[in-house]
Amino acid sequence: MKKGRFGKFGGQYVNEILMPVLIELEAAFNKHYASHQFREELTGLLRDYGGRPTPLYYAKNFSKLVGCRVYLKREDLLCGGSHKLNNTLGQALLTKRMGKSRLITETAAGQHGLATVMAGNICELETEIFMGVKDIDRQASNVKRMKLLGANIIPITSGTGVLKDAVSDTLREWTTCSRTTHYLMGSTVGPHPFPEIVATFQSVIGTEITEQILAKEGRLPDAVLACGSGGSNALGAFRSFVANTDIRLYFVEGGGESLDADNSAAAFQLGKPGVLHGALMQVLQDEHGQIKPSKTRSAGLNYPGRGPEISSLCETGRVEACYAFDTEVFDAVKAMCRTEGLIPALETAHVLAYALNHSEEFDRDDIIVINYSGRGDKDLEAIERYYYGS
Ligand SMILES: Cc1ncc(COP(=O)(O)O)c(C=O)c1O
Repeated sequence: MKKGRFGKFGGQYVNEILMPVLIELEAAFNKHYASHQFREELTGLLRDYGGRPTPLYYAKNFSKLVGCRVYLKREDLLCGGSHKLNNTLGQALLTKRMGKSRLITETAAGQHGLATVMAGNICELETEIFMGVKDIDRQASNVKRMKLLGANIIPITSGTGVLKDAVSDTLREWTTCSRTTHYLMGSTVGPHPFPEIVATFQSVIGTEITEQILAKEGRLPDAVLACGSGGSNALGAFRSFVANTDIRLYFVEGGGESLDADNSAAAFQLGKPGVLHGALMQVLQDEHGQIKPSKTRSAGLNYPGRGPEISSLCETGRVEACYAFDTEVFDAVKAMCRTEGLIPALETAHVLAYALNHSEEFDRDDIIVINYSGRGDKDLEAIERYYYGS
């Protein structure tokens, strides 16, 4: 693989001011991640603060609906309520070692913002979070949490006031303050080395799945499924299994209302390769190459691009690119609530919806692992509005 590339995807399409900063970041990551002391500190924090390893739960009742043995990798139980802390703790420790004092980032569902300010506080770093006004409105409970933890929230009104606009503004801000400030990228997107750094920190998920499923079932799973936009929880779960082609990998994106470019976030169905936020990736765009806003009720899947690594894995067919529509997602939320007593995040419910609606793809004896990326407390209002119209 060419450095910073996954097949043809990836690269560093950035303002020249940022090139030395990316070079510095890559060198710092290579140096510190290789060090025993850094790994010990990260592993210790993930264990004692984060609650790792997260359980691998056999969802007996939900399994009956799908018609095979379904395990949930419980990233909703990681402190903060989603997988995001795996990455933010890693990058915050790195920031400290680089001698920087401030973190900036963007967030959509608020899960990454929350995980960033948590990690920032632990590492005594100031935290500033860029968030689209539309997302501030629909993820209000996470905004309250972030503020309580001391984050400064910058509302973004440019574009359509969603994640892609917040990422653009955060990148712009970074060009003015990179000497003292680290941009804590929240997913496997952006210019090299971000996609590699984020996937590496998230790969603890797949490492644990391997150990846990071998202990419980004595064999590896037949399939691993994850939702995604940028791809961080999916790659975290998939990386351990990519080389083993007997194991099917499914990536489920936001289908939105219907499969047309004005009503969906399904970039693998409706997009094509293009440059977004510093990297070549699969992206929703119009016939002139202008980025098209994505549309789904799930804030965390509402990004028009797919990170370079997941773009490449789907292009080669190693990972199957799938989608679920909003209505199916809300049905899946209800199914999980009623069968297992768990309220999934809307993002996570995309995978559940896919499994429920494509049960013919799984044999009765199949063991499948769903990366259960987050809990749905933040989505209670949206779920209530959908069901009761209040
Ligand atoms: C619970 C949850 N799952 C999944 C995602 C999608 O992000 P990624 O593709 O980086 O895993 C998000 C994003 O905010 C999220 O909050």
